[in-house]
Amino acid sequence: MQTKNILGIDVGASGIKGAIIDLEKGELITERMKLATPKPATPAAVGEVIKELVAKIGYEGNLIGCGFPSIVKHGVAYSAANIDEAWIGTNIETVVSEATGKEVIAMNDADAAGLSEMRYGKGKGQKGTVMLITIGSGLGSALFINGHLVPNSEFGHLYLHGWVAEHYVSNTARKKYDMTWEGFGKRFNEYLLHVDRLMSPDLVILGGGISNEYKEFGKYIDKKLNVTTAAMFNHSGIIGAALYAYEAKFGEI
Ligand code: BGC
Repeated sequence: MQTKNILGIDVGASGIKGAIIDLEKGELITERMKLATPKPATPAAVGEVIKELVAKIGYEGNLIGCGFPSIVKHGVAYSAANIDEAWIGTNIETVVSEATGKEVIAMNDADAAGLSEMRYGKGKGQKGTVMLITIGSGLGSALFINGHLVPNSEFGHLYLHGWVAEHYVSNTARKKYDMTWEGFGKRFNEYLLHVDRLMSPDLVILGGGISNEYKEFGKYIDKKLNVTTAAMFNHSGIIGAALYAYEAKFGEI
């Protein structure tokens, strides 16, 4: 029988994370391991780190799901906001597969996190328009209509006050401009109101490292917005990547 324990990897601007996921439960069955993203994060260098990660985790399966911080179509990266530009036009699946000797299915990192929340977390059973926004080095988004993913939505690249939104209000921007939680919360509220004006989501789920700090900045978010934090916080990315890979290859769990 085909195993439903699949390795999920999440490539980020600062760390590359991975764990084996039990897809029946949507839970990690190995501890999440994290290695530093190489600098520069070229395809060859990232491939090497993923190879090391797979060896450290001791994964013996043949399939890897990989979340990647760019537009991803048919395995190819089409943007590179927080990763080396050499990735543009590169087939992520081929690079990671050649490094690890395993079959790889790649997708946008925020789409992966969203998928995990829709299946196992806060979006489970939610109809209508659901968006997941990840707040990290960049600002990522995932869009679901009645549970179906509309891939590569990239709402982190909207313009807000003449800025690319993720330059105005990501975690990188928070640190760069030394924002207080109040300052960050107010900017993020402006961002969410803008997204709301465009998409009228029924639910917005926040993911990424600083969604853990929602208690600090959540009070600045307009009450009319239906906002919650991801059930799996920043584990969602690896869980969703593993799920997507499994289902792309074997059909629904
Ligand atoms: C990228 C997105 C990614 C997000 C989060 C943005 O800069 O354009 O593709 O999902 O960062 O990593």
